[in-house]
Amino acid sequence: MKIIQAKDYAGMSRKAANIVSAQIILFPNSVIGLATGSTPLGVYHQLVEWYRKDDLDFSKIRTVNLDEYSGLSPEHEQSYRYYMNQNLFRDVNIPMESTHLPNGMAQDYEAECKRYDQLITDLGGIDLQLLGIGHNGHIGFNEPDQAFDKTTHRVILNQRTIEANTRFFRNKEEVPKYALTMGIKAIMQARKILLVVSGADKAEILRRAMMGPITPSVPASIIQLHPDVTIVADEAALGRISLS
Ligand code: PGA
Repeated sequence: MKIIQAKDYAGMSRKAANIVSAQIILFPNSVIGLATGSTPLGVYHQLVEWYRKDDLDFSKIRTVNLDEYSGLSPEHEQSYRYYMNQNLFRDVNIPMESTHLPNGMAQDYEAECKRYDQLITDLGGIDLQLLGIGHNGHIGFNEPDQAFDKTTHRVILNQRTIEANTRFFRNKEEVPKYALTMGIKAIMQARKILLVVSGADKAEILRRAMMGPITPSVPASIIQLHPDVTIVADEAALGRISLS
């Protein structure tokens, strides 16, 4: 596990964007696993800036996102499809048909989960998976205390996740209660993992994920077993870890 310390959120975003852009430059037809939430926003904005400077070409890149809320259409401003379109896809030259998220509107969610796993397989697996970590240790929407080995599945969102995400909705009742998420298995099968973490409020969960026991009660702890993990975190997020 490599740990790269950045001074602050802007530094974390640039360093992580450098790693993603190296992947894109070296392997222009990579499959990149993408994450949503506040943390990766700076990474996406930096990638867009470099694209505009003609430093990056997304034309052959394929993307698979970790998750999507159940019941939100792609046009809903809080859907992850909308987030990705707004923050990355519409601003770079990636063909929309090369961008994939679970379909949160699927009525038959079991069939949709199978389709998504098959899609990842058909793409040849994920070359680089960008991850954030939730305050409860979730990755994607793999919430605490679910078995580690799950493929794409529907989850009931944990109370803490609903509370954390209420800030994006008018009230708690509007936050979807279910989501479709890539499972731990697909995440662990990614060839490289890049975890981005910022802020003192993530310091304790980052310490538990990196140094604590590997346990489903901290889903992110599983990445200790992955052979190629890079963590880019700011000083505040690394506040409970001694790097010496
Ligand atoms: P955040 O979410 O970046 O908005 O803190 C992280 C996550 O829940 O994975």
